[in-house]
Amino acid sequence: MAQAPFRFEQPQVRRLTVIGLGLIGGSLAKALRLSGFAEQVVGYDQRPGDARKGQELGVVDLAADTLAEAVQGANILVLAVPVRAVESVLAEVKPHLGESAIITDVGSVKGCFVDSVRKVYGRVPPLVVPGHPIAGSEKSGILAADEKLFRKHKVILTPLQDTDAKAEALITRMWQSTGAEVLHMSVERHDEVLAATSHLPHLIAFSLVDTLAGEGDNKEIFRYAAGGFRDFTRIAASDPVMWHDIFLTNRDATLRVLDHFSQGLQSVREAIERGDGETLLGVFTRAKAAREHFNKILEGKSYIATMNTRQVTYYLQPGGSVQGRIRVPGDKSISHRSIMLGSLAEGVTEVEGFLEGEDSLATLQTFRDMGVVIEGPVDGRVKIYGKGLHGLKPAPGALYLGNSGTSMRLLSGLLAGQSFDSVMTGDASLSKRPMERVAQPLRLMGAKIQTGEGGRPPLTIFGGQRLKGIHYDMPVASAQVKSALLLAGLYAEGVTSVTEPAPTRDHTERMLRGFGYEVQVEGNKISLQGGGRLQGTKIDVPSDISSATFFMVAAVITPGSDLMIEHVGINPTRIGVINILRLMGADLEVLNEREVGGEPVADIHVRYAPLKGIQIPEDQVPLAIDEFPAIFIAAACAEGTTVLTGAEELRVKESDRIQVMADGLTTLGVKTEVKPDGIIIQGGPMGGGEVHSHSDHRIAMSFAVASLRAQGEIVIRDCANVATSFPNFVELAQEVGIQLRVEED
Ligand code: S3P
Repeated sequence: MAQAPFRFEQPQVRRLTVIGLGLIGGSLAKALRLSGFAEQVVGYDQRPGDARKGQELGVVDLAADTLAEAVQGANILVLAVPVRAVESVLAEVKPHLGESAIITDVGSVKGCFVDSVRKVYGRVPPLVVPGHPIAGSEKSGILAADEKLFRKHKVILTPLQDTDAKAEALITRMWQSTGAEVLHMSVERHDEVLAATSHLPHLIAFSLVDTLAGEGDNKEIFRYAAGGFRDFTRIAASDPVMWHDIFLTNRDATLRVLDHFSQGLQSVREAIERGDGETLLGVFTRAKAAREHFNKILEGKSYIATMNTRQVTYYLQPGGSVQGRIRVPGDKSISHRSIMLGSLAEGVTEVEGFLEGEDSLATLQTFRDMGVVIEGPVDGRVKIYGKGLHGLKPAPGALYLGNSGTSMRLLSGLLAGQSFDSVMTGDASLSKRPMERVAQPLRLMGAKIQTGEGGRPPLTIFGGQRLKGIHYDMPVASAQVKSALLLAGLYAEGVTSVTEPAPTRDHTERMLRGFGYEVQVEGNKISLQGGGRLQGTKIDVPSDISSATFFMVAAVITPGSDLMIEHVGINPTRIGVINILRLMGADLEVLNEREVGGEPVADIHVRYAPLKGIQIPEDQVPLAIDEFPAIFIAAACAEGTTVLTGAEELRVKESDRIQVMADGLTTLGVKTEVKPDGIIIQGGPMGGGEVHSHSDHRIAMSFAVASLRAQGEIVIRDCANVATSFPNFVELAQEVGIQLRVEED
């Protein structure tokens, strides 16, 4: 994290000299004077008068008239001169500089700085610590000196093998005191990264403005050049001498990235020439997603790769009642499948109601990585330009699936049928989840899959295998395993069939049919013939019953509540929660039943009714598999004992949901007894306390709901993952009357 600027109680060094009082040198000198890092900050600039002006403005304590005078007695020397001037300045100051002085710099090209030092000293002495603050503006000169310039900016230090550790630590503290975040990198890596992220954009801006300024009608161009041109070319007003130095010194890295960029530009030129809108959309949608992604990273907001670094805590005041009419986001299982099948289809697939949660966005990004053009999501609308069953391309790197087990398991089957190799990774929670349950049966089909330690991610899937249809008798009731096999079956020779020990969600089967692919279902056996085609279609994703569950339970347990939840998917393989809550005595009405795009949908009206404990029928377990954390809260509010058996699968979800829920309930004073395959919950009064979600979205949301019946404040730690399935949970919870406050750090 970037440090807040601070003031040292004691100066860290006696004398610090800055040579070159331009924007960077001046700003650093000013910031260090204010932080009290050095007893005395001395400045020198080759422009006569600038150092004096610096002294008048409070940028430096003392202006030196000559280089020799400037470095006399300096403990730290900061070279803030153009990169190509370093060698001559160093040569001139060397005889006057003490042996124990630390030398650092601020130049944009580190290879060149290190070479200059070597030329003057014959080697890079251990007290040389090369540095580069990634900050600046198009302004230059001493008058632009700004002590806030480095706050929340990055500074890269590029120490060499024998750089002195104490010197490096001191320079790190120096930069931190300006409010900067200090990173470390090799010289070579720094110059590559900066060529791409800073040098190339400057080159393009300079070149574009110069080209347009040279056109005959340039007045017209500049008169009408509005926001886009202005924004894009702001950096073309930067210091020309400094930038000409940078390109002359970082030649090779700049040329490499320039060539790469030129190829990209050439291919969009060709696409425009031949009227190829899909290629253009592909470039633009990928760029838009990448731009938004890095914005989120910079802002520290939730996004698949950054999510786990945020600490989100929920604070819930006890009591309240639940009222209103709400619509929860789209179904997660169906959203994943819409992207997968849409990408494998021929033609365009348009999706509405897509869940813009981290899990389904991870799936979407994966297919973009494999070359599929996907527009959106915008307000739940997504447009997928299908590539056909054999049109995916290898991703440029490993596919990162965040927290999403569904993505990884279903993709295992799909990727097993491709001609190329793939690697899939995930976050800490996903990296603990069992993957052999899909890898083993897929291997029987001829797939070549390597799992990580203990059968867990990462997964490497070797492409180019000939898959053959098999029959697989599933030992566990898992829709993910079934779907993985059916997706691999699309690529297999002959028939692929599975039997399930109990019915599981059948969205894959329904959606395949929606894409025109024949799927046979006889009793508990599902089969399909490989080698067919999928035809792009329209998909309307219903609201997710798993998300609706938190609000069903909220209303069911809270006296005085009355809630309508609209457009909820009520696929018969998903309604275990309705059946279980009704058995407990809940007042749930399923209204306005209709079919939307092959999936049944209804509005659910929920009112408070006293609940009683029950023995949960085992046949309902797979039909309510994701809903148990919330059902446990209902059980804690019921009169009597609720017993769950046959649910060992709960132990391998995003967390061990039996143990983690039992721990939380115990904290709230609810009596539970944990069994290997279930739990016994004794209904009774609930107190407050601090519970941990173990990064499991459904645990966090369940305890939020519990607050309605708790007698004290509930604090829930580790809630960032709610964004995986329910990005607007907090807003909806507050809207219906749950007293929830969020803190993030
Ligand atoms: C899912 C299937 C279930 C469920 C998961 C989504 C799916 O997992 O828990 O949240 O979309 O196929 P299992 O197949 O492991 O039971």
